[in-house]
Amino acid sequence: MSEPSNRRVLVIDDMPSIHDDFRKILAPAQAQSVELDAMEAALFGETAKPVQQKFEMESAYGGEEGLARLIAAMDAQRPFALAFVDMRMPDGWDGAKTIEHLWQKDPKLQVVVCTAYSDYSWDELLERLHAHDRLLILKKPFDNIEVQQMANTLLTKWDMTERASMQMHELEHQVDQRTTQFKQASEALQREIDERKQLEGQLVQSEKLASLGQLAAGVAHEINNPIGFVASNLGALDGYFQQLLEILDAYQVASQTLGAESAAQLQQLREKNELDFLLDDIPSLIRESKDGIGRVGQIVKDLKDFSRVDSQLEWQWADLQQGIDSTLNIVASELKYKADVIKDYQALPEVECLPSQINQVVMNLVVNAAQAMGSERGTITLRTGQQGETAWIEVADNGSGIAPQTLQKIFDPFFTTKPVGQGTGLGLSLSYGIVKKHGGEITVNSELGVGTTFRVELPLRQTRPAA
Ligand SMILES: Nc1ncnc2c1ncn2[C@@H]1O[C@H](COP(=O)(O)OP(=O)(O)OP(=O)(O)O)[C@@H](O)[C@H]1O
Ligand SMILES: [Mg+2]
Repeated sequence: MSEPSNRRVLVIDDMPSIHDDFRKILAPAQAQSVELDAMEAALFGETAKPVQQKFEMESAYGGEEGLARLIAAMDAQRPFALAFVDMRMPDGWDGAKTIEHLWQKDPKLQVVVCTAYSDYSWDELLERLHAHDRLLILKKPFDNIEVQQMANTLLTKWDMTERASMQMHELEHQVDQRTTQFKQASEALQREIDERKQLEGQLVQSEKLASLGQLAAGVAHEINNPIGFVASNLGALDGYFQQLLEILDAYQVASQTLGAESAAQLQQLREKNELDFLLDDIPSLIRESKDGIGRVGQIVKDLKDFSRVDSQLEWQWADLQQGIDSTLNIVASELKYKADVIKDYQALPEVECLPSQINQVVMNLVVNAAQAMGSERGTITLRTGQQGETAWIEVADNGSGIAPQTLQKIFDPFFTTKPVGQGTGLGLSLSYGIVKKHGGEITVNSELGVGTTFRVELPLRQTRPAA
């Protein structure tokens, strides 16, 4: 076994002669031998032999002084490994009290109690110091060999305890490190799971949209034909009716030349069929029908614009305001009872984008704004504008607003504050993805109880890596 690393011993005793005894045993005639070796080296030119000093002893003549030396040694990073403490010291602390204080400062200190006679029984002392396993007793007068062996053994014990505690520290450190690694790994895994979930959500959503788009486009196509001929027939009907009116007027004039009986018959027929009402009502019926069919045509066009199935993932130059208008028409029924829509558009050039996806973003923002309204009817304001090479769209509402602690989470996939079945929590996360894909930014400004403004900024043109 290697030599103990700490050889420092503190002796606390009120009797100076006891210190001399200890010095003889623990550091025998060292001063003399060092001097002799030095002299020998000076005379004969030999290098001095290294002195094997077994113990490094310090003396204190009372408990308080002993504690002061212990503290000073610890402050200097040179702690004592072992203290011999006299039990009976008439001035100041006795041995038991001194040991209590020493252990309070340095629980690792090994202690030997030196006693000729004591005020305590051995059992009482052990009980008082809670020290069944860290206290040895040395009866005065001492046996030199016994003192040396005790010192040797206890220094080794101190050393082993020290090493064990260092190893323990090292182990704890390793456990900490591993725990951190585990934590990081599990966080990475969780992130991956979240990402995967989001991707799945995106896929489901885009499949839903694609099939919805196809359906809409199919329906639109089917409806377009009948709309076409109904509209054109209405146009023709209007024209024919004008012709009929002309003829009717001519008959009217001619009827004045008929006999009284025929004239009465005609008058009767005219009244029975409410000719005046018909003449008045037919044009307005035709007008309303034309109007209606025009609206159906617009809805079909919006549906087609919105879904754009045929060009779904092609970058195109598009009029953002036209897209916003189509989208507003699509969600009109959602807004009707909740909010008035105000449009505040500034002139915008065409923007290179995926129009159906930008429409999707606007729809999410507008529907969220409508859903944020309470029982009172609110206002949703849509603004657009251009700043340098960027086009921006703002959707502002005066609804519930978003609490600051919620604000950081709204773009997270599946984050929703809406009741089960009403929100999937995907709207904003998908919108975020779409805007990022365009190289743009989506930001939010909100105040609880006042309202929320979302702002989408898009570069006017896409910079693509050179082919
Ligand atoms: N204009 C808004 N005013 C107040 N809160 C909003 C607004 N927009 C979004 N939020 C909050 O952000 C959350 C997330 O919005 P997101 O659109 O991602 O999901 P959702 O609307 O809950 O569900 P989904 O859009 O899938 O139907 C909402 O649940 C709501 O709490
Ligand atoms: Mg939403």
